[in-house]
Amino acid sequence: MERFLNIVFCLFVLYATQGSAHFLLNYPPTIGFDDNLEATAPCGSFTVDFSTDNVTDFHVGGDSLAMTSIHPQATWLFRATLDITAAGGWESLLPAVEQTGLGDFCEKTVVIDASWAGSKGVIGVVQDAPDGILYQCAAVNFVSGAATSIPSICTNVTGLTAQFVSDPLLSSLQVSATGSATSSSATSTGTAATTTGTTTSSSTSSPSSSATSKSSGAATVTLSYGVLGQFIWVAAIGSATFLACLL
Ligand SMILES: *[C@@H]1O[C@H](CO)[C@@H](O)[C@H](O)[C@H]1NC(C)=O
Ligand SMILES: *[C@@H]1O[C@H](CO)[C@@H](O)[C@H](O)[C@H]1NC(C)=O
Repeated sequence: MERFLNIVFCLFVLYATQGSAHFLLNYPPTIGFDDNLEATAPCGSFTVDFSTDNVTDFHVGGDSLAMTSIHPQATWLFRATLDITAAGGWESLLPAVEQTGLGDFCEKTVVIDASWAGSKGVIGVVQDAPDGILYQCAAVNFVSGAATSIPSICTNVTGLTAQFVSDPLLSSLQVSATGSATSSSATSTGTAATTTGTTTSSSTSSPSSSATSKSSGAATVTLSYGVLGQFIWVAAIGSATFLACLL
């Protein structure tokens, strides 16, 4: 039985490493997610349409962004625009944030230009991942004030760390949809964010199950499955680990 589970796990790893990697935008809800087209700027191949999209009120005084990353390390750009076609007018909301830790990431208290309250707009989340630049968007109504609570889906995977970093690639995207426009690359010298928890326990974010696997580097990687049953995602550990996995 154990052997069988091991093989099943290894197949998952193989699947994850062969499929195109991705991230999920959980809050505000994405306007659309296509694993294969997530690298298409500015919104992962989707067109913003306020008549059909899931439109969320986003508080300019501070509100939350919730993502799930399948990369052990990746860098985020959080940006927003009042251009409801998402074609331009992007303003970055924070310096680039480097996440270390696989899984859920909650950036709370993201602040928007107060003068945007009362307008429709688009929030863009861009991930600079080892396999490319990936895009997701949310259609929002900017509203005044600060959110009084954090959505339950907005959590940090145990052991996550995050810090502001300089990411020239993301800086070049801050004001454009495609990265071809010029930009004033903001310097990002913020303070490092804090570590929570340990790396050996499983996610507290809502996993339906978890499993551990030893990688060839003897590190323990924790996997969590089950993002509302919609996506099954697993760690992209690498094909070397897959081979090691079967031994
Ligand atoms: C809109 O997003 C919310 C929050 O993610 C979700 O609960 C709801 O089902 C979504 N509605 C539609 C129509 O997709
Ligand atoms: C998640 O971790 C980041 C980085 O440490 C932190 O800024 C953020 O506030 C945390 N989110 C929650 C919901 O605690």
